[in-house]
Amino acid sequence: MKKDSFYVTTPIYYVNDKPHIGHAYTTMLADMLARSHRLLGHDTWFLTGTDEHGQKVQEAADKRGVPPQEHVDTMVKRFEELWERLEITHDDFIRTTETRHTKIVQEILQDLYDRGEIYQAEYDGLYDVRSETFITEKDLPEGFSAENLPDHVKVIQETNYFFKMSKYQEWLISYIEENPEFIQPDFRRNETLGFLRKDLSDLCISRPKSRLSWGIELPFDDEYVTYVWFDALVNYISAVGYRSDDEMFARRWPAQVQLIGKDILTTHTVYWPTMLKAMGVAMPQTIFAHGWWLSGKDKMSKSTGNVVNPLEYAERFGVDALRYFLVAEMSLGQDASFTEEVFIKRYNSDLANDLGNLTSRVLKMVHTHCDSKVPVASALPAEGTPEADLWNHVQTAVSEMSRQVENMRPDLGVAAVMTAIREANKYIGVRAPWKQAKDENLQPLYETLYVSMEALRVCAALLYPVMPAKMMALRTQIGAGVDEPNVDDLKVFGKLVEGASLEEGEGLFPRHQKPKAAPQPKPSKKAANVVTVEEIAIEDFFKAQLKTAKVLEAVAVEGADKLLTLQLDVGGEQRQIIAGIAKHYTPEQVIGKMIIIVTNLKPAVIRGVESRGMLLAASKGKKLTLVTVDAEDFPSGAKVG
Ligand code: ME8
Ligand code: MG
Repeated sequence: MKKDSFYVTTPIYYVNDKPHIGHAYTTMLADMLARSHRLLGHDTWFLTGTDEHGQKVQEAADKRGVPPQEHVDTMVKRFEELWERLEITHDDFIRTTETRHTKIVQEILQDLYDRGEIYQAEYDGLYDVRSETFITEKDLPEGFSAENLPDHVKVIQETNYFFKMSKYQEWLISYIEENPEFIQPDFRRNETLGFLRKDLSDLCISRPKSRLSWGIELPFDDEYVTYVWFDALVNYISAVGYRSDDEMFARRWPAQVQLIGKDILTTHTVYWPTMLKAMGVAMPQTIFAHGWWLSGKDKMSKSTGNVVNPLEYAERFGVDALRYFLVAEMSLGQDASFTEEVFIKRYNSDLANDLGNLTSRVLKMVHTHCDSKVPVASALPAEGTPEADLWNHVQTAVSEMSRQVENMRPDLGVAAVMTAIREANKYIGVRAPWKQAKDENLQPLYETLYVSMEALRVCAALLYPVMPAKMMALRTQIGAGVDEPNVDDLKVFGKLVEGASLEEGEGLFPRHQKPKAAPQPKPSKKAANVVTVEEIAIEDFFKAQLKTAKVLEAVAVEGADKLLTLQLDVGGEQRQIIAGIAKHYTPEQVIGKMIIIVTNLKPAVIRGVESRGMLLAASKGKKLTLVTVDAEDFPSGAKVG
């Protein structure tokens, strides 16, 4: 990494619709990282933007009956406004219709064309309108063939321009193997390597204007526009001065982290690196693909009407609570479920209870007994005292937060801060300041309050990149001033200044009522009378949804000698399950196996790790063997039963 430099990007979002919670998530995550690095004094640059060309956008414009440019100019505002509302601190916002971008895309194309990296050829084959990609018969969904195509796949015959992507296949494989941090998390790296095991074809980078006119014109053939992905990916460098501002480009590129969702892994870990290689530009340090926000257990989609609107949550619970939920609830890399119930539960337990209570208990006493000023400070008592213990917990949170942000697990960093906050609440229970307040000697009371406020000072600073407004409010309420927190102060006890005035403030996180639970169906009398049934109906068997699943990754669960955490690919969906097979299989032995899992089991948390499903294994006495699929090369995600 270039010393002390941090450049983070988000995908640039399609402006075909209003932003949803997934867009808000990636952008908020990038914001949290950018804010953390700025606090560390790093030379930080945070880029986001919008992807404004291509078929999807043109179709959306046609539907609204407006010219594409007018459409994108209207839609982009929704993104800009949302980022403002969510306190996103991007340094730049790039739109692919801006000249600073289109000009660079054309220069790159011309250069690659001149150097023979792009060639013209006849294409006769299948085209998937939905994903805007050329596909082969083997890419068709189950049950379809060249004679029986799904609606979104067309046979087309046209001349196009191709980028010689295939010639970089071997290079890319070695690069990924030699640079383990290049694609993260690890199971995504394996997914890309898996993809690269098949022959890579060249990439069609043009679309004839007769079929699609909304795009950047090819500089060497005005009958064509550029394929939207070839255009879009370039934003990450056109925005930081590639071919236009060498000084800026040298300062920003390569990016440290390029955040994406798992849906766009191939474009970012195959197309993008080969494009950069052909241009002679350095690779980004890490491309990190996070998981999917689901609505309960289902994919969010407009057609089912279950898309979470980030603005609605920001209105009801506050921007900071939404930001907190998004970071805390998603184990980075995995899928996570967004429901009102989970939201309110976490809000109440972490924010209203743990953090909110700590703050209001301490502040109330300081206002009553210390004249609304930071009480008389003293040195931190010796090791072994409850004070020193609490401070140790707070210091653990400090080191965990920076370690976990570095590891791309801010959810665990936040969890460490919450642990410290709960310890502070316990500490107050032990010292019982309400009793100390009745003593003649008030010094012990002051000490308890001061130590608690110091814990709050550090925790508020650690949570500041996640909840900037609320944590700033908290800082002023405990007399820590109005400046941004200074990271050097987090390891030092006694930074709150004796006698500093506290600003009165409102309660930070008022409790929210849990949503009413859906009425439970009453057990029917009949069912109650049934004693034991040995035989089940076929419908009962089919209640369990069994599917084939490929093991992508396996690791031992720390502190549990029977358990492995498995990352599975279930027909393109990624899942994590915990399996009690570690006594019988090493992680290496299970990776690559095609197993059978129950996919519709209620998710469970085992040893703090989420498990979504259960695998099938046969066991007798001490013996155990996995149920696997007989055929080689059988697809994952296939129904079993
Ligand atoms: O793919 N959960 O844009 P897009 C989590 N323009 N993240 C989600 C999500 C969900 N349910 N839904 C969307 C494009 N995202 C291209 C990108 S980049 C050169 C071009 C987030 O509007 C996630 O980051 O479809 C995902 O990768 C991105 O939005 C896709 O946004
Ligand atoms: Mg998408």
